[in-house]
Amino acid sequence: MRFQTQRPASWQSCIACGNEMVETDPLPRCGVCGGLLEIEHRPPAMTPAELIQRFTERRGGQPGATASGVWRFREIVLPSADTVVSHPEGNTPLLHRVALDRWAGVDHLLLKHEGHNPTGSFKDRGMTVGVTQAKRIGAAAVACASTGNTSASLAAYAAQAGLPALVLVPRDGVATGKLAQSLAYGAKTLLVRGDFDDCLRLVEQASTQLGVYLLNSINPFRIEGQKTIVLEMLQQLVWESPDWIVLPAGNLGNTAAFGKALREARRWGLISRLPRLAAVQAAGAAPFARSFAEGFSKRHRVKADTVATAIKIGDPASYDRAVQAITETDGVVLSVSDAELLEAKAAVDASGVGCEPASAATLAGLRQLVRQGTVKPSDRVIGVLTGHILKDPGLLLKYHQETDPPPPGANRPLEIDADIREIERVLKSKA
Ligand code: F0G
Repeated sequence: MRFQTQRPASWQSCIACGNEMVETDPLPRCGVCGGLLEIEHRPPAMTPAELIQRFTERRGGQPGATASGVWRFREIVLPSADTVVSHPEGNTPLLHRVALDRWAGVDHLLLKHEGHNPTGSFKDRGMTVGVTQAKRIGAAAVACASTGNTSASLAAYAAQAGLPALVLVPRDGVATGKLAQSLAYGAKTLLVRGDFDDCLRLVEQASTQLGVYLLNSINPFRIEGQKTIVLEMLQQLVWESPDWIVLPAGNLGNTAAFGKALREARRWGLISRLPRLAAVQAAGAAPFARSFAEGFSKRHRVKADTVATAIKIGDPASYDRAVQAITETDGVVLSVSDAELLEAKAAVDASGVGCEPASAATLAGLRQLVRQGTVKPSDRVIGVLTGHILKDPGLLLKYHQETDPPPPGANRPLEIDADIREIERVLKSKA
């Protein structure tokens, strides 16, 4: 169906066949053709200057949802939501470290650190909107498949909303911190004998056959929340677009969200120029990079393998939306090896910033783009770090304590007797 002249404030539309559905329809995909859904909003009833003023007034605002870096932008996220489930989330910093400028080869790199969100990843921005929507439509239970961060976030927001949560994660390969969070927040946690792509297939079946509300990023309300990474970044830059935004890419929900945020921000007069997106995959899980190299003539699916378990995904669900995001922003997609990714992570960690392995794809990818001349050192670049350093302590300890010979930057701990002379000896040997 299609709405006629009287359109609601927001509705869902299929990006494949254009079918339109009401905002409260719980179907995970288009009811006509099975395509991916997208939320559309009527243009805000305010001028760009009025909107920007409204967003500025709310910044660092009152306790509750107004203080959220997601709901601050409610007019262009989910204007019709009245009661929202908010931690609050967002309000993440833009960090600058000279050591990382040097490492990547640019003059001035700013890092938007989404690991500063309540559960330690950017997923909280999509989840506050997704769980708010679940409550609005009266969902009895919520579910997701995950490589660990989405499940941690869903578990936390479902607990806050008083909704039962079901999470499906691959039995082997979810980082310790993430699994621990899901258990602690009280989600029913299923360790699936299979990989993430199997988990996603299974949970989609559960959502259509068993009636649980699906909160993976194919859910378009998740995308609306994740747009605010870009909106908040633009606000921090006083609505002056950077030249590049670099981000890690797995299931491609975030790439899709970034593209939509930029498209709408320009359409609604908040910015005049689109930055270029650079999506970075791990080489062992790079079907999107492969499609990009072939001019997006073919969609690829691979059996994924990488140390960055968050982006160990072989058949990204938001492929179609992400193609649009890259095409519209004159973007690029590339891949980095696990060795490059770990070297980048060691640099981010040693700068005192810290991030989880998948996030380091941003730095490794940026360095590659600078070396090949695609990004100029003088370009204004924002790199997105998606998750907190403590998400994956297992990989950290292996890198620093166990790998033999020690990789560059490995920081071995030293065991000593409880004797001051031992400390003296260590200090001297360092000098
Ligand atoms: N970085 C981190 C830390 C992630 O957890 C993810 C995805 C990504 C990057 C990639 O984002 O999928 O939108 O392209 N994690 C999902 C999860 C798959 O289940 O937590 P994407």
